[in-house]
Amino acid sequence: MQPDWVPDGLDIDRPSVARIYDYLLGGSHNFAADRALARQAIEAIPDLPVQAATNRAFMHRAVRFLVDAGVTQFLDLGSGIPTLGNVHEIAQAADPQARVAYVDIDDVAVIHSQHLLADNPNAIAVRGDLRRPAEILADAEVSGLLDLSRPVAVLAIAVLHAISDDDDPAGIIAALRDALRPGSYLAMAHGVNTRVEDADLVVDLSKRTTTPMTLRTPEQVQRLFDGFDLVDPGLVWAPLWRPESPHEVPDRPERSGNLAGVGRKP
Ligand SMILES: C[S@@+](CC[C@H](N)C(=O)[O-])C[C@H]1O[C@@H](n2cnc3c(N)ncnc32)[C@H](O)[C@@H]1O
Repeated sequence: MQPDWVPDGLDIDRPSVARIYDYLLGGSHNFAADRALARQAIEAIPDLPVQAATNRAFMHRAVRFLVDAGVTQFLDLGSGIPTLGNVHEIAQAADPQARVAYVDIDDVAVIHSQHLLADNPNAIAVRGDLRRPAEILADAEVSGLLDLSRPVAVLAIAVLHAISDDDDPAGIIAALRDALRPGSYLAMAHGVNTRVEDADLVVDLSKRTTTPMTLRTPEQVQRLFDGFDLVDPGLVWAPLWRPESPHEVPDRPERSGNLAGVGRKP
């Protein structure tokens, strides 16, 4: 029997990045096909669970930084299946009025988020496709929650590498940037292809999921921040972005596989 959080009509035999990521983080919202592909990927690239955990830890630090910088509105694109330490928990712990709109293309991620947020008046989850930024901003629930005349932090954590070059990630970010007022932020973690063999393998395996990956060069990731001023320390391996304790800095930060940064729209 399927658990009650499984949406009608979901193809559970087609692995999904959201559910594989949930598995890598130790979550329980995944199916046999997700776990099989995740295990195959981990066997080839044992660093994958570390990569998921360091992305998540970067997201936590970035949200704390943004709350300290005075941001009270968050648009989390490719937000994933909720697990411990979600954006609204961190932001609302500091400011109970902080508003968070979660957007994901994966039904399990959206339904589970909606369930979790049922009693939270300042956070919502909607199904949306990052490749259509105008639709996300015009969505009735998103525009009802976020006031675009005030700064918004857009979070794109480990999601832009799910967008192909043909879908123009730079154009997507530019459209969001132009719609946001000065003082808004972009926080991003993005998988890079510096370890070529690993990169080829991940990209190959990801073709079996609903959202295949495109890893990029550090220069390409840097260019996604065009029009934003990167805050210190700039674009760095995820664990090196403002670590809050020396224990957070591993010997080989490049094992995180993702570059991370936070930029402010001037
Ligand atoms: C690796 S997970 C990252 C989750 C979360 N941002 C985090 O860092 O913990 C990537 C998420 O992006 C979502 N995603 C992939 N392509 C997307 C798209 N075109 N639009 C919206 N979400 C997308 C996937 O469903 C998945 O939940």
